[in-house]
Amino acid sequence: MMSIKKVFIASFALLLGACSTKTTMNYNEPYRLQYHFSPPQKWMNDPNGLIYENGTYHLFYQYYPEDIVWGPMHWGHAVSKDLIHWENKPIALFPDEHGYIFSGSAVYDKENTSGLGTTENPPLIAIFTYHKMEAEKAGDIDYQTQGIAYSLDHGDTWTMYQNNPVIANPGLKDFRDPKVFWHEASSSWIMSLVAGDHLQLFRSSNLIDWELSSTFGQGVGAHGGVWECPDLFELELNGEKHWVLLISINPGGPNGGSATQYFIGDFDGYTFSTDQEDIRWVDHGPDNYAGVTYNDVPDDSRMFIGWMSNWAYAQQTPTEAWRSSMTLPRKLSLFQATDGVRLQSQVLEAADSLKAESPSVETLDSGQSLIPFEGASQSRIYLETAAEAFSFALQNDTERVVFSINRADGEIVADRSKSGNVSFSEAFTSEELTADISYINDESLSFEIYVDASSIELLVAGGKTLMTLQVFPDQGYNQIAVDNPTNEAIRLEKQRLKGIW
Ligand code: FRU
Repeated sequence: MMSIKKVFIASFALLLGACSTKTTMNYNEPYRLQYHFSPPQKWMNDPNGLIYENGTYHLFYQYYPEDIVWGPMHWGHAVSKDLIHWENKPIALFPDEHGYIFSGSAVYDKENTSGLGTTENPPLIAIFTYHKMEAEKAGDIDYQTQGIAYSLDHGDTWTMYQNNPVIANPGLKDFRDPKVFWHEASSSWIMSLVAGDHLQLFRSSNLIDWELSSTFGQGVGAHGGVWECPDLFELELNGEKHWVLLISINPGGPNGGSATQYFIGDFDGYTFSTDQEDIRWVDHGPDNYAGVTYNDVPDDSRMFIGWMSNWAYAQQTPTEAWRSSMTLPRKLSLFQATDGVRLQSQVLEAADSLKAESPSVETLDSGQSLIPFEGASQSRIYLETAAEAFSFALQNDTERVVFSINRADGEIVADRSKSGNVSFSEAFTSEELTADISYINDESLSFEIYVDASSIELLVAGGKTLMTLQVFPDQGYNQIAVDNPTNEAIRLEKQRLKGIW
């Protein structure tokens, strides 16, 4: 018979066991992000089907529920009321006889143009790429087609359209990632689709029959890799309207591997045109890919979410139960830069709800400062200064990530070579990470930094330049080190943030 003591120990162990399962579900594994969206378990890549409908933001995502590396793609699903706090939902789309479910978008078919719902209960329609793996393995090139699915219960359950695919493959190896929106001015659904080295624009009156209207991109912009995940939308600056086209490329990013470029131009319902000659990046950091914006946000705000990883090492990052996360959502706008109109990305006001305390504020004079900050790995840090050159680091006794700002050179250089666990892939530290700040004309610069367990998002001058990067510190960072050789003071604010899980 067990002694009372043994029974006690056994039940305690049982309890501990139960707790540790619970702990896993509570997102407490090493490197697990605390206020960013990451899948409950297993592999995730691109955000998909971003739509606001019936008071809810939907986030679908490329998901492989069987492993922590890429595999047969599904659409995972989560919902939010504020884009900050998320609730996980069951998987929305599963592979079928036409193939894996690759990236795409979602629209609310308010007038039931597709006939897949009713006028009383209009459908949500998901538009995505089918990828037929057996055909690819057999050496075919026409294995990507476009399909649709519909939901009559606000996105909870989905039915595949019975006559899929709706766009057959025209003989192009890369033919994917449909982003669809309703274009009021020409009364038509518009689809942006990428085809290797260019964009194809299609029109439709019913989301089922599509007609190619134009192409864009051959010889324009960055072409270091294949074009992926397009998005086309309108933004206004000082009463003037501009069309913005996002195109992700992999590889060929400014810091190696994948990244997202953008073009500012015009769109008339049929054709996108631009006179932009240089290459512009949504985010200069290495870890913001395949980002697109929400359809149907009230007041036409453009909310953006990116996948916070890079194909150069995404499948090797040192997590075990789950892999990779999304960026914080960002509101896109335009600003007048020294060289024309550019894209700006700001963290949403809703992120204020993450603040666990009011910021502690201090002024750092010339020289070196070491500021203890327990909990820095889940925090918001804000620096503001007219200093032309200085550096700041997030660190603990053995691990550090350093940002060196040099306004004369017009750039920020980040060094994550000693940021924590870096041994999982050479590509993670092989590139010098730089971000262009030359086009920002503000006299003093602000640096807003969101730090989570394995990510850093740096927004310069309110998001006129961004640098998003992953880091995998084994102990959290607990100090900020600033090196300021100039005579200009630096204002520093710091505060801890709450978790969302
Ligand atoms: C971008 C991408 C898309 C594709 C999806 C597959 O990261 O390669 O082009 O649809 O991922 O998971």
